[in-house]
Amino acid sequence: MMANNRAEQHHCDVNLKGKRCVLTGTTSGVGWEAAKTLAAHQASIVMINRNQEKSEKACEIIRSTYHVECDYLIADFTNLEEVHKAADYLNHSDWQIDILINNAGMYCTRKTYTKDHLETVFCVDHLASFILTYKLMEKLKKNPSSRIIQVNSQGHRFNGLNISDLNWDKRYYTGLRGYGASKTAQLLTVWEFADLLKGSGVTINAMHPGGVKSAIGENNGPLYRWYKHHFVTKFLADPSISGQALHYLAAAPELSEVSGQYFNLTLVEKPSPHALDREIGKEIWSISKKIAGLL
Ligand SMILES: NC(=O)c1ccc[n+]([C@@H]2O[C@H](COP(=O)([O-])OP(=O)(O)OC[C@H]3O[C@@H](n4cnc5c(N)ncnc54)[C@H](OP(=O)(O)O)[C@@H]3O)[C@@H](O)[C@H]2O)c1
Repeated sequence: MMANNRAEQHHCDVNLKGKRCVLTGTTSGVGWEAAKTLAAHQASIVMINRNQEKSEKACEIIRSTYHVECDYLIADFTNLEEVHKAADYLNHSDWQIDILINNAGMYCTRKTYTKDHLETVFCVDHLASFILTYKLMEKLKKNPSSRIIQVNSQGHRFNGLNISDLNWDKRYYTGLRGYGASKTAQLLTVWEFADLLKGSGVTINAMHPGGVKSAIGENNGPLYRWYKHHFVTKFLADPSISGQALHYLAAAPELSEVSGQYFNLTLVEKPSPHALDREIGKEIWSISKKIAGLL
């Protein structure tokens, strides 16, 4: 992990004209950089965001700067009904989807719940991406060279996933452990999706987008924000590196058959052992399906 942080990254210059990319969470940070980089390589963009005004503005910039098609859907990922609706809309649309990038995510220092009484970070960072991937799989299979990328995090190494206490009723919640749990759950399901998609031509991989400047954590209190702005930010890179890495993972010809891997930006890396436990993976898969109403 440390060696990869210093290693030279891969790059590619593949043009994506004629390809359509669906990305979540494109109103700032990693997602915005990815949308711009993919559009700069001529991909059509479909954004899924929760904020209409920011989405309108982002689409306008993409259209006027890169002269590609750009559309958006609105869904708040704390509301799983809205996530289902976005997936259904995409499934019924005429759009061919070539690339799905599940990027939207958040970090909370305190335990909070969604209206359905799900721990919020687990819902936004794991369940929403799980539903979109699960429901769009068949559509993606119609185009047997499509790619799915889950924007995960080295934060999965903080762990915290306990499948008998997903809502943190029995344990003390901390931001790092809650974030680690949701990213671990997402990673564990990537290996399951990869198995399911074997032979279909569709690939799925997870990636850490680098430690980059973004709006993550700005939803937290003044103390956390002060710490972030005065200390953490100094050590963070420009988010353009995340955009470039996502373009590489979405487009590089040498990755056309690579699936079920975890990348640190563009370099394959071994996740933490707890994120490789296939038994727990199968359990979190079934639980996620059940909570998400995908049975
Ligand atoms: N930045 C890093 O160093 C870093 C490191 C490791 C992993 N990551 C991962 O990278 C991804 C992007 O994070 P970022 O750092 O770019 O953060 P960011 O700047 O805060 O961007 C997060 C995006 O997700 C959207 N989002 C948040 N909550 C949502 C919800 N309830 N429903 C729908 N959309 C929602 C945000 O929309 P709004 O604009 O409406 O808030 C925004 O577009 C996350 O999965 C994060 O875990 C980031």
